[in-house]
Amino acid sequence: MLTIDLQEAKKFVSGEEYNSASAKAQNALQQLKDKTGKGSEWLGWRDILAEPNDALLENIQKLAEDIRQEADIFIVCGIGGSYLGARAVIEALTPFYGDSKTEIIYAGNQMSGKYLKQLIDYISEKKADGSDKSVYLNVISKSGTTLETALAFRVLREWIHDTYEDDANSRIICTTSKEGGALNKVIDAQGYKKFIIPDDIGGRFSVLTPVGLLPIAVAGVDIRSLFYGAVSAFRDYENNPDDVISYAALRYALYNKGYLIDIFTSFEPELRFFGSWMQQLYGESEGKNGKGMFPTVLGYSTDLHSVGQMVQQGKRNVIETFLVVEKSQSKLTVPADDDNNDGLNYLSGKTFHEINTRAYEGTREAHIEGGVPVVSMTMNELKCETLGSLIYLFELSIAVYVYCLDENPFNQPGVEDYKKAMYRLLGKP
Ligand code: PA5
Repeated sequence: MLTIDLQEAKKFVSGEEYNSASAKAQNALQQLKDKTGKGSEWLGWRDILAEPNDALLENIQKLAEDIRQEADIFIVCGIGGSYLGARAVIEALTPFYGDSKTEIIYAGNQMSGKYLKQLIDYISEKKADGSDKSVYLNVISKSGTTLETALAFRVLREWIHDTYEDDANSRIICTTSKEGGALNKVIDAQGYKKFIIPDDIGGRFSVLTPVGLLPIAVAGVDIRSLFYGAVSAFRDYENNPDDVISYAALRYALYNKGYLIDIFTSFEPELRFFGSWMQQLYGESEGKNGKGMFPTVLGYSTDLHSVGQMVQQGKRNVIETFLVVEKSQSKLTVPADDDNNDGLNYLSGKTFHEINTRAYEGTREAHIEGGVPVVSMTMNELKCETLGSLIYLFELSIAVYVYCLDENPFNQPGVEDYKKAMYRLLGKP
């Protein structure tokens, strides 16, 4: 279950401001439903939830189980929307030391030669018993041309072919568009296994397609529950979109009042990458034509000791979105100490979850007093279904909010500019 608390943030806008934003958000949602808004050819992320493809889910699950049987290492090679969703879910739901059987490693999301060389060295190392590591590679690129991903894929697939020879093809899985792009040329030439990214789903809205689902399943997460968590949110919000309208409207009203930075934060460190996924989803969707809030991610309470001062007393143009997990995920308690020289015995017997929760409540209170509109999204438990619901909630909310800005949530024309300059400097023909 998911609850959205907007009460405190609402106090920062007048009734009139909120009502006018709410009317706009309702209209935006209708445009989305009618497919009459900007970029309406990119609404496949809603369609896949309206008509779930169980056969595809089973197909992915089956392949993932086979890979989990065999693989010591599964490399996810992609960038932006082609990897952040998978990493967000995997890090949220699997222990920080990784899955005991198959280790997930990310590549192709930057161009560091040092990183790639270290990765090659690491996968080349023998296991403790002297045998070779079993490595699988999933390259994910909708365009099939993204340089970060393509370069890493060239190096890694060469390593796989050199290492496994005749068995190499079964270890390389490609996720890309049905046709076009250089990756499809490589696939056609080599005969690699391929999953298709639907044309009408953009990268940052694609976590519930094979883009995210295959890596998530290989990490041992129940993708059916994740997917159906999103389906259930889809059905709920089709019937009663009040939460989405209120959240999008409030964010829009705050934006109009000069709030220009949205901090996504949580006291649960495993949600840090979920914040990064949100950052990309929001940033690429709303940052256009001089508009939009700057989305940023902080991890509390760690970052209260770095930029907490700024949040509390810096320029008052910041809003804060807390991701909260209600149910304790560990029973670890503070031990008693006879000497009590560190003065911590007043906490003896309390769980870390309880202490962390008080830290959240105290921070929320202090930030509200400091003039920060805070929104809290509370999950009763951190589990697949709830994360699936949260994914859809944020996808739908950002689309509604960006329609309020009168922009297209589904394109990212600005991302091309750095590529053009980089390719010119690299002498791309
Ligand atoms: O949301 C998006 O569309 C982008 O962030 C892309 O996912 C990212 O640029 C990677 O693109 P591609 O999947 O084409 O390699």
